[in-house]
Amino acid sequence: MIILGIETSCDETSVSIVKASKEKIELLSNVVSSQIKIHAKWGGVVPNLAAREHLKNIIPVFKKSLDKANVKKDNIDLISVTQGPGLIPALLVGTNFAKTLSYIWKKPLLGIHHIEGHIYANFIGNKNLKSISKKLSKLPSNKAGTKFPILSLVVSGGHTQLILMKDHLKYEIIGETQDDAVGEAFDKVARILGLTYPGGPALAQHAKKWKSSKIQKVDKIKQLRLPRPMLHSQDFNFSFSGLKTAVLYRMQDLQKTSENKKQLIAKMSHEFQSAAIEVLVKKTIRAAQKYSPKTILLAGGVSANKELQEQLKNAIEREIPDSKFQVPNPKFCVDNAAMIATAGYFRWKNMSKKEKEKSLSNWKDLQADAGLKLS
Ligand code: KG4
Ligand code: ZN
Repeated sequence: MIILGIETSCDETSVSIVKASKEKIELLSNVVSSQIKIHAKWGGVVPNLAAREHLKNIIPVFKKSLDKANVKKDNIDLISVTQGPGLIPALLVGTNFAKTLSYIWKKPLLGIHHIEGHIYANFIGNKNLKSISKKLSKLPSNKAGTKFPILSLVVSGGHTQLILMKDHLKYEIIGETQDDAVGEAFDKVARILGLTYPGGPALAQHAKKWKSSKIQKVDKIKQLRLPRPMLHSQDFNFSFSGLKTAVLYRMQDLQKTSENKKQLIAKMSHEFQSAAIEVLVKKTIRAAQKYSPKTILLAGGVSANKELQEQLKNAIEREIPDSKFQVPNPKFCVDNAAMIATAGYFRWKNMSKKEKEKSLSNWKDLQADAGLKLS
């Protein structure tokens, strides 16, 4: 079946078409229009500006996506849209567009939880696996079959959760952040360090510079050790707000004495990233030891972080060798509509005939929901 996916929960306007069957999820198109440049000067996403841009972009992005996939209205079997969570002015643009299409085209409509989309990004066909870095291309793809139970480490700008799935669409949140999401912490720390928006990728680059550069050898910044919040707590929860504040105070101190600002930023980026990753990896491994998942997945924007991918992969190979590790293709780590279309397929497959018929009239009452819960 052919599914049209729509995503507008934050600052990417995206429309995608996927062809889904039992064998594989094939990507026909995935058009993403990013608003990074617009929000960069504000240092973060401004909800009303995001909505204005989504309104401007949604129709051209939709048209381009249909053209690229070379499909027409009659080929489409299902419309799948991000219902929440996210920024309400942004979500409203996507959901209203999807409702209008569903009504005019007389096609079934499903509202999808954004995090469900991120998890199902791992199920998008493997024809693009070549573009994954050499080391990671050795990872098992879905061709090998993703087996349950699955443990997902969800790391995005709004979420940090460990989710256990005993079957498709069955979620048990076994741990989550008590304050900031890890992506949010990356963005805020990047801001403290004066890096460009979006902070996560910029900070990761500076951390990499530190790791690989010779400046380490002439390091004059001694004793830079940030806390590893909740590392030893017996639950599977996280906390990143204290870590961010620790960076703020350490920078205020070190800036007074440090001669080399660039070196300080690189080292602080590296230390922050190491602290965040250490906690994420340790808690995931501990949860895996308790729940014995057959597959461990990374999901959400921060899953694009190569250091996190590497460290988690190494820890799993070392400590839980019976579990397989999967990461989405890089272009499906950050927000995109292909993951929403893919999740829509799995939802659809799980519905009764009656529920499927009912979804033809979802355009009447589907509501964008900024605080939608995963269920
Ligand atoms: O999933 P996503 O695109 O949007 C939300 O659902 O929030 O995630 C965006 C988050 C941002 O906080 C961004 O800084 C972070 O993902 N991010 C990264 C990297 N790429 C994106 N964080 C660390 N390292 C990266 N390479
Ligand atoms: Zn996201």
